[in-house]
Amino acid sequence: MRAIEWDGKEFKLLDQTRLPQTIEYIKTGDYRVIVEAIKRLSVRGAPAIGIAAAFALAFASKKIVSSSRSTFLNELDRIASEIESARPTAVNLRWAVQRMMKRAGSIQKVSGIPEAMLHEAERIRLEDIQMCKQIGLHGAQLLPDSGGVITHCNTGALATGDYGTAQSVIVTAIEQGKKLHVYAGETRPLLQGARLTMFELEARGVNATLITDNTAAFVMKQGKANLIITGADRIAANGDTANKIGTYGLAVLANYHSIPFYVAAPTSTIDPDCPDGSAIPIEERNPGEVTHPFDVQIAPDNVDVYSPAFDITPHHLITAFITEHGVVSPPFKDNFKKQTDPGKVNQPV
Ligand code: MRU
Repeated sequence: MRAIEWDGKEFKLLDQTRLPQTIEYIKTGDYRVIVEAIKRLSVRGAPAIGIAAAFALAFASKKIVSSSRSTFLNELDRIASEIESARPTAVNLRWAVQRMMKRAGSIQKVSGIPEAMLHEAERIRLEDIQMCKQIGLHGAQLLPDSGGVITHCNTGALATGDYGTAQSVIVTAIEQGKKLHVYAGETRPLLQGARLTMFELEARGVNATLITDNTAAFVMKQGKANLIITGADRIAANGDTANKIGTYGLAVLANYHSIPFYVAAPTSTIDPDCPDGSAIPIEERNPGEVTHPFDVQIAPDNVDVYSPAFDITPHHLITAFITEHGVVSPPFKDNFKKQTDPGKVNQPV
């Protein structure tokens, strides 16, 4: 099941807020509806947000009425900023919007811009699908022939164009015959692990057990898990990584229990403009998501709440990254650069 579908005529977003109970699509060609869907997490997961943003900008370009190229591009730029500010942490959103603006700027005739942008958005979607497939193949080599794997949040097809990031690695390894058992953290407060990861793993026939987030330490202590693998929302140039809140705690625990901690992400999630994790903006969510999850009140009225959606895992707690080009070992800063050097593409470093 894909988060985003486009057949050249109809654009559909699977409304992930309604999973797993209800499968319902948002069909739209209106960029404002897509921005709203990103804000309310109907579409979520760093690569999927980037793809949705690219289509949003392409659809917006169709509605701009101006034959003046500079007026057209100024209006497009204003809308691009609006789309970019929908969620602050996942850099794929900015990456996709900037790539779309570059494409628009490369077209001389205003009348040709919307079509070129729609093609670019589709290219971003298809490239993401290929990147995720490659991530799965590269990462599967790192996984043992049998054992337990802890993962966090949702990193499956629902978070990307298809296949997923960390989940692509796990599923590819299982398809290669490895006997793995997945422990999926429920992922408070919005339960992406319980609602989405368990939904996807079950559909793919993967042996998986749902754990509350605070059970992970005991699972490691009991020797049930041999490694942890997560996705990422933004990776700083030195390897510090923003991912769903709770990821940092898992990395500390992996270090304590001497088990590897891997991060799987496409290179569109690496932000060379962020030197380290302190420069990554962290989204804070509405307190109501904690006090009234899924419309059930679980805390007294008006309590103070702190709800960062993401945390930063320092690079020294990460064993290796897996991108579409291969496995990246420390020192990450130098090795990310080597991987993105066109001459070194597809070379593990
Ligand atoms: O708030 P979300 O659901 O968008 O958070 C998603 C995550 O943190 C994922 O782990 C991350 O985007 C990487 S998955 C491809």
